[in-house]
Amino acid sequence: MRAIDMPPDASALMESTRAIGYSLPTAVADIIDNSIAANANRVAIFYLPSEKYIAFLDDGGGMTADELNLAMKYGGRSPLDNRNSNDLGRFGLGLKTASLSQCEVLTVVSKKCDRISARRWDLNFVRSKNSWSLLELNPIEIDQLPLIKHLKALEHGTLVVWQQLDRMVQGGDLQRQMTEQMDKVRRHIALVFHRYLSGEEGLRPLSITMNAAPVEPSDPFLRHRQTQREQESSFDRIKIVPYMLPHPSHLKKSDHELLGLTDDLQKYQGFYIYRNRRLIVWGNWFRRSKKETLSSLARIQIDIPTEFDSLWVLDVKKSSATPPKIVLENLDQVIERLSSTSRKTWEHRGRRETSDKIQHVWNRLKARDGSILYEINGEHPMVKRLIDQAPGLERELNKLLEVIASSLPLNQMMIDLNGSNEIGNAAPISEDDVRQMLEMMVKGMPADKLSAALETLKNVEPFSAFPAMLDNFKPN
Ligand SMILES: Nc1ncnc2c1ncn2[C@@H]1O[C@H](COP(=O)(O)OP(=O)(O)O)[C@@H](O)[C@H]1O
Ligand SMILES: [Mg+2]
Repeated sequence: MRAIDMPPDASALMESTRAIGYSLPTAVADIIDNSIAANANRVAIFYLPSEKYIAFLDDGGGMTADELNLAMKYGGRSPLDNRNSNDLGRFGLGLKTASLSQCEVLTVVSKKCDRISARRWDLNFVRSKNSWSLLELNPIEIDQLPLIKHLKALEHGTLVVWQQLDRMVQGGDLQRQMTEQMDKVRRHIALVFHRYLSGEEGLRPLSITMNAAPVEPSDPFLRHRQTQREQESSFDRIKIVPYMLPHPSHLKKSDHELLGLTDDLQKYQGFYIYRNRRLIVWGNWFRRSKKETLSSLARIQIDIPTEFDSLWVLDVKKSSATPPKIVLENLDQVIERLSSTSRKTWEHRGRRETSDKIQHVWNRLKARDGSILYEINGEHPMVKRLIDQAPGLERELNKLLEVIASSLPLNQMMIDLNGSNEIGNAAPISEDDVRQMLEMMVKGMPADKLSAALETLKNVEPFSAFPAMLDNFKPN
C-alpha cells in the first residue's frame, strides 16, 4: 500500500464550510466562546451599518504571531486535544467557520507581549489563488482597521473583524436589517452566557457590550422571581438542578420580554444543558416527555463538564447536543417528579381571599406562595343566568372570562395608581343601569320565587349597593 497526499481544495472546502448552518447569533456566540477561553473579562461588540462591519474586541490573553497562524488554520487544534476546563472550544474550526459563514473577509489582530500581529482570510483571494493563502497585514494596513486604537490601548487582547457581510445584509434597508439582526444577537448571547454575565460564583466575571450598551443576562429560571428550586441531584459529575417557574400570571411582562418568551412558555420548557456553564441547548425534552401545558413550568438545569464531550453528540456550531442514552434514563425520574409539581402549580390557583358575604364580580385569590390573583367570578348570578339561557355558549363564555381576567393590565394599573393621574372605570354603573340589569335578571320569574331571588341579590355585586331598589321590586 502506498499513501497519497490528498489535501483538500482550499476554495471548495472553505466555501462548503460556510454553509455549515450558523445563524448570526450562533456565529457571534462562537467568537465570544474564544474570548472566554482566552480569559477575557470584557468583550466589546461594535457594528456600523454604514461601514458594513462587525468587530469583537476582547481583553483576553492574546496571541503571538505563531499562535495566531495556528488559530487561523482550519483544524489548527484537534477535537482530541486536552482542553482547559474553561475552554469552550472544541473542533479548532469555530473562529473560521463561524466568521466566514457571515462575511467574506475575516481579520484577526492580536496583542501579546507588546507585539501586534494581524492575519486575514479573504475569500476572494483564496478563490483567485485556490490555495490556503493566509494574508499577513503590515503595520499600515493594521492601522486602517476599525477599533485598532482600542486594541492598542489594551495590554493584551484580540480584535476580530468581519467585513463584507455578504450573508448578513442582502440589499434593502441596511440600517434596519442590521439593527433587527443585532437585536436577535443580543437576546441570544444574553441567554447563552447568562451565567457568565451574572457573575456566577466560580466564574470569571464577564461583561459584553454592544455598541457600548451592556448586554444584561437573561436567566431562563427567573431566579429573581419566586422560582422554586427543587432538589438537586448529580451522577457521574453531571449536576441536575430542576426549577419550577412561578405561574405565568405572576410573571411580569418584563420577565417575558427578558426571556424572549413573547410567544409560548411551553416552547421553552425542558432541559437547559450547559457545557462549562455556557448554554448549549434548551427547551427540549429529548422526547422524554410530551410538551404539555401541565409541565410547562418545569425547567431543568444540567451541567456537564467538558470531559464528557465525547459522550455527547455535539456539533461544530454547538447548537445541537444529544445527551447519551444512559444520562437520559437517569433524567426520567427527575422529569416525573417535576411534572407533578408543575401540575400542582397550575391546578392550585389559590383560595378566595375576600371574607365578606357579597358575591363579587371579581374574586381576589391568594396563592400558596402569598401572591394575589384576580379572576372573574364564574359563579356570579349574571353569568349563570346567561349560561342558563344559552347553554351551548358555556365553554366559550368561560373562556372569554378567563381571557378578560388574564389580560387585566395589572402592571399598568399599578403604575397609574402610583402616578398622579386619577384612574377610574371606563363605564361607571349608574342606578338606571342597575335597574335595567335587575329587570333583565328577574324577567319572567314566577312571583313565588321573586322575593327570595331579590333577597339573594342583596349580597350580589352590583345590586348589593341598592337594597332599597331591590325592596321596591318585591311583589306587594
Ligand atoms: N479571542 C481569542 N483570544 C485568544 N486566542 C484565540 C481567540 N480566538 C481564537 N483563539 C485561538 O484560536 C484557536 C482556534 O479557535 P477556533 O477556530 O474557534 O477553534 P476552537 O475554539 O475549537 O479551538 C483557539 O483554540 C485559541 O487558541
Ligand atoms: Mg472556538
